[in-house]
Amino acid sequence: MRSNNFFRDRRDFLRASAATLAAGALPTSLFSSNETFATYSSSSSPSKPQRIILDTDPGVDDAIAIFLALRSPELKVEAVTPVCGNVPLSLTLPNALRLVEIAGRTDIPVAAGAATPLVRRLVTAKYAHGNNGLGGVDFPEPKLKPVSETATELIRRIVRANPGEISIVAIGPLTNVATVLKSDPMIAPLIKSIVIMGGSLSGGNITPAAEFNFYVDPEAARIVFDSGIPLTMVGLDVTRKVLIRDEQVRPLEAAQTPVSQAAGKILRANFDRLHKASNAIDFAMHDPLTVAQLIDPSVVTLKDFFVEIETTGELTAGQSLGYPHGPVRRSPPLETGLPAADSPEPEFKPNAKVAVEVDPDKFFRLLLARLTSAA
Ligand code: BDR
Ligand code: CA
Repeated sequence: MRSNNFFRDRRDFLRASAATLAAGALPTSLFSSNETFATYSSSSSPSKPQRIILDTDPGVDDAIAIFLALRSPELKVEAVTPVCGNVPLSLTLPNALRLVEIAGRTDIPVAAGAATPLVRRLVTAKYAHGNNGLGGVDFPEPKLKPVSETATELIRRIVRANPGEISIVAIGPLTNVATVLKSDPMIAPLIKSIVIMGGSLSGGNITPAAEFNFYVDPEAARIVFDSGIPLTMVGLDVTRKVLIRDEQVRPLEAAQTPVSQAAGKILRANFDRLHKASNAIDFAMHDPLTVAQLIDPSVVTLKDFFVEIETTGELTAGQSLGYPHGPVRRSPPLETGLPAADSPEPEFKPNAKVAVEVDPDKFFRLLLARLTSAA
């Protein structure tokens, strides 16, 4: 079992990473002349790692995001809490256990989360992630077991024991997070921040209006955006621009570590599946980008927005609307024949930092460096 500080110190980490590069596992074309792999190794290892709980619905890109988080000394993953989403919980839970096990991090508790959205029927994305959520790759049954607490109980306990210290990184539907907030209404000020893969200010992916994670549980997303907790939203506006292709999978397949081999298998299988189904030659690394910008904030540009989530629209539920400034206008009220009430314009207050730009090359350099590094 590997301890949380699996790189004893930064020097160990640099040595391991440099060895991988020297071994030729990464194509030099991925590195521009003035921004090498060393940039990642040396500039981004703070002495105090950010403490996070990873809430996830693995999922092909979730799998890569989990590996990235577990292979980055800037992050201390306190727990992994699977939720239903890309596939049902009966698959996301064993997938999460498997991925944590492959990364050799069986010291991290994994707790089962919600099996259904708050009020809606579960819609999955097997078309994008394969029937088992991992591109169809059959990994052995995990030996690791979930802890006896539920995800809600575990998140509450960790946050309450470490007030102001823990960020939740939510890369699936927000059901677990909303359930925590509903079950413990005084917990919000104790959560440092919530970093979300979800939403879009430029159209959806599962409907023209909504991004998948918010579409699956719009009510949960609304609860989170109304919580007053500092939020970062990494949505389709940027994640659609980090498209993985064959040239980025090859170095993963070439590197001989359990993580790079598993990542390579999952990505290769998903490529083959999607290529067969729709001739696709790439797909988006939504969740890994969300984790990457925690490790290196310069990968994206964030801008303040007031974001609201549509829950009532018959065609638009899960849509995220971002106001860059006031006034925050809603649809006109229905004409009731009664005199119109005078409602003063509320003060404009952003509730989220939204990623609006991304540096895809920098992202892929970081991702591949971390996933191919020898432990
Ligand atoms: C999001 O939906 C899921 O399919 C992905 O894992 C990602 O979290 C992208 O819309
Ligand atoms: Ca996901």
